[in-house]
Amino acid sequence: MDYWERRWATNQTGWHRQNFNDLLTKHWPNINAPVNGKVLIPLCGKSLDMLWFADIGYDVTGIELAPTAIKEFFADNDMIPECINRGNYNEFSSGSFTILNGNVLDFKPGLIMADAWYDRAAMIALPPQQREKYIKQIAQQTKSGAVGLLITYTYPQNEMPGPPFSLEDKDVRILFSHGFEVEQLERIELEDEKGRGLSSISSSVFKITKK
Ligand SMILES: C[S@@+](CC[C@H](N)C(=O)[O-])C[C@H]1O[C@@H](n2cnc3c(N)ncnc32)[C@H](O)[C@@H]1O
Repeated sequence: MDYWERRWATNQTGWHRQNFNDLLTKHWPNINAPVNGKVLIPLCGKSLDMLWFADIGYDVTGIELAPTAIKEFFADNDMIPECINRGNYNEFSSGSFTILNGNVLDFKPGLIMADAWYDRAAMIALPPQQREKYIKQIAQQTKSGAVGLLITYTYPQNEMPGPPFSLEDKDVRILFSHGFEVEQLERIELEDEKGRGLSSISSSVFKITKK
């Protein structure tokens, strides 16, 4: 069993929240994201934020490696998804929600073509050496002008093994320097997270626009 499926199978899903993410609800209305359309949520888990997007009129396309997460998302929200085998991945859908079961790095370019995307605990969940490939996927699965909201953590990496992996603000700017515009919206020092034994930890929020 792979690392993430094991985390789901053993209920080690401490990242999962029972509320909508407050940085999402605070910033999304102000970033001029296309209204309605399709929002891509890579590494979606069973995030309730998917419900928030559907409530305001988006079609949601999630990508998730662990079948358990997908099954729990639909079951927890009283939906019975249709499952279609698309060859090298399964597609689960019900109403406004479609979740593709597979590795985010493996999907065919142009498959999704989203108008917007939302990254909470997604890029920072991937090993740092996969970041460039991940951004290439975001570029290949979104339309020109698509707007993304990215939430990161920054902490001394030598004080804790990931995931989540630390991602510095300057590295966000470097990684998205080709084909995107980056605007930092907020940086918050997280005093209450220092209990993990970290000397410092902050969270940053970025608006990222695909040119
Ligand atoms: C830290 S969780 C965050 C989930 C969700 N974004 C949230 O905020 O609740 C990361 C999720 O990504 C999934 N995942 C990890 N690596 C992946 C990959 N390469 N492709 C697709 N999903 C992946 C894991 O199974 C897990 O559900």
